[in-house]
Amino acid sequence: MTTPAHTGAPGGVDVPVAAPARHLYVHLPFCAHRCGYCAFVVETGGLDRRDDYIAAVICEVEQRCAEIGVLDTIYLGGGTPTLMRPRRIARLLRALADRTARAAEVTVEANPETVDGAQLDALRAAGVTRVSLGAQSFRPRVLERLERRATAEQVEAAVRCARRAGFDSVGIDLLFAVPGQTAADLEGDIARALALGVDHVSWYELEIKPGTALERMGAAPPDEDDAADAYERIVDALTAAGFEWYETANFARPGHRARHNMAYWTAADHVGVGVGAVGTAGGLRRRNAPGVDRYVAALRAGREPAHAVEALDADTRRRERWMLGLRLADGVDTSRVGPPDHPVALDDLEDAGMLVRDGARVRLTHRARFVQNAVAGRLMDFAA
Ligand SMILES: C[S@@+](CC[C@H](N)C(=O)[O-])C[C@H]1O[C@@H](n2cnc3c(N)ncnc32)[C@H](O)[C@@H]1O
Ligand code: SF4
Repeated sequence: MTTPAHTGAPGGVDVPVAAPARHLYVHLPFCAHRCGYCAFVVETGGLDRRDDYIAAVICEVEQRCAEIGVLDTIYLGGGTPTLMRPRRIARLLRALADRTARAAEVTVEANPETVDGAQLDALRAAGVTRVSLGAQSFRPRVLERLERRATAEQVEAAVRCARRAGFDSVGIDLLFAVPGQTAADLEGDIARALALGVDHVSWYELEIKPGTALERMGAAPPDEDDAADAYERIVDALTAAGFEWYETANFARPGHRARHNMAYWTAADHVGVGVGAVGTAGGLRRRNAPGVDRYVAALRAGREPAHAVEALDADTRRRERWMLGLRLADGVDTSRVGPPDHPVALDDLEDAGMLVRDGARVRLTHRARFVQNAVAGRLMDFAA
């Protein structure tokens, strides 16, 4: 059921409030410095505003309590959430405790150079169940190119401490297609990543984003074929080591898929709070504006933070669901998502060995997952 409510969006439009979502993203934007490839909503410096920021986030959660149901997943992302220190994260999780399911997955993104054993123990005690450590690479040259602060040794120490702290899942993030990254660099990263014995690996292709230091330096992405070879090598090595390749860029030991991210990929409703946070619920996509000072001032004054709301029509949602679903090893549930724009292409792609149909489910074959965008382009009119 939906009820009309004032959103406080610029221009003051009335939009329906979604049925309560079971997934909450909290953006914690503080960073010690901006890495060379990063285009996220981040603020460097001004750490004296962290208590005010957490108080403002708690106010936003209270303001939006009608949108937030019993939470199955909470994701604290950044920014560098671990710069908030465990006591502020504990304060936030206490404020959410009444709406958090008993078996909820609570993830924190952690920068390895910002955590030690005592802090990881404190995060575990505060109710964090899953930690995702930003490694990006283990090769000093690559880390330098990315302007990363954590060394390979700090990543390894953080994984050991996280294990000792007893998190349900410990994961790392890595990058490939970094300008200047050689095949030997990649092999080194694969070997060290596997030696860590983590439960989850996200291995993203680096995007050179507008406005980043990498872009300003004129860094060129590697040749497309080299990037494709690197990707294939990563998939082969991780699957051979027992990881499930469950999403285009994500690998998990059995039982360790990221439930929060699965909610995004299956287009489940989710609420985003904090500066720059994005959420989609009830057919509406809401984006909070960046700017910690404005955010804190608005919430302190009892106002809603600046944000924009976009209504997603049924075709846009259906296309998004297809695009996201094709990234998953489990594929698309057509009984929930609806047909593609070109259903006849399903037969052609099936005959060509690019997809399999299993009841209402459509899944790409292993080889088609390497050319997923081309396959998706045969099924859907994404430019429409
Ligand atoms: C929100 S970010 C940052 C989390 C944390 N602050 C860190 O630096 O590790 C989460 C992940 O997105 C990935 N990422 C960030 N910028 C990217 C880019 N330009 N291209 C591809 N992946 C990127 C990185 O692997 C990163 O660990
Ligand atoms: S990559 Fe992570 S640590 Fe670096 S600026 Fe972006 S959010 Fe901060």
